[in-house]
Amino acid sequence: MLLRVEDLVVRFGGLTAVDHMALAVQEGEIIGLIGPNGAGKSTLLNAVSRLVPAEGHVTLHRRDRDPVDLLTVPPWTVVRHGVARTFQHPQLAPDLTVAANMGLGLFARSRTSWLAAGLRLPSVRAEERRVQEDVVRTAEFLGVAQWLDQLPGSLPYGIQKLVELGRAILAHPVLLLLDEPAAGLNSAEKAVMQRLLLEVRQAYGLSMIVVDHDMEFIFGLSDRIYAMNFGTLLASGTPDAIRGNAAVQEAYLGQEDDR
Ligand SMILES: Nc1ncnc2c1ncn2[C@@H]1O[C@H](COP(=O)(O)OP(=O)(O)OP(=O)(O)O)[C@@H](O)[C@H]1O
Ligand SMILES: [Mg+2]
Repeated sequence: MLLRVEDLVVRFGGLTAVDHMALAVQEGEIIGLIGPNGAGKSTLLNAVSRLVPAEGHVTLHRRDRDPVDLLTVPPWTVVRHGVARTFQHPQLAPDLTVAANMGLGLFARSRTSWLAAGLRLPSVRAEERRVQEDVVRTAEFLGVAQWLDQLPGSLPYGIQKLVELGRAILAHPVLLLLDEPAAGLNSAEKAVMQRLLLEVRQAYGLSMIVVDHDMEFIFGLSDRIYAMNFGTLLASGTPDAIRGNAAVQEAYLGQEDDR
């Protein structure tokens, strides 16, 4: 068991966007999270990454550390505990190069003090070199190395999504939360994204929760799937079980035309 979400509730005024949700992620697992528009998928990821206030328990069980309820730690330490994410629309700093944007992920792990950094001690220069190497290695892995010196705004959407994925990977997380990694991509780019995510899991030994509306993408990627509707759990199981689930099919009726 890597992550256990229990009794998770997120309210926005009178609206309960996540309503006593529960889910579990095993080590190395890719979990698909599906559901119609407004089901609460992004809000669940936002709650786990502490971008919105939530009640309940989100317990991270890392092999190398004591279990911790992420809802009880300072929000800005979540990434240091090992949870990194991407957003439904890539959130990159427009005035930083691709390399600098990806390098931001490493801040999550930096041990350099401001004093050491200010004095540019040899240890700091060594760390900067390590960061650079780590960024280049990750960029090559994701196939974006040729754009490292460019600003993200000028790049195709699919490349921006890979850069954001790179930034998340560079935080060296144990769990990646990916909000619609395939949205806005053409079918060739979706195939690349799907293959890369499977390779990332393999190479970095991490787990993922992946939200997406593209069923072919999510079913081909996930070990298990959770389906949400109106903030609650509709069904969970293997891709085959979810594909044949009547409640899930019902929830998607009339939705197909939106996509
Ligand atoms: N910051 C917010 N303030 C108020 N309401 C919000 C906020 N964020 C989300 N909501 C509402 O919570 C509900 C769940 O939204 P959420 O974005 O989690 O859905 P989703 O499953 O990610 O949908 P989609 O597939 O369209 O991205 C919706 O009714 C939405 O309008
Ligand atoms: Mg969403």
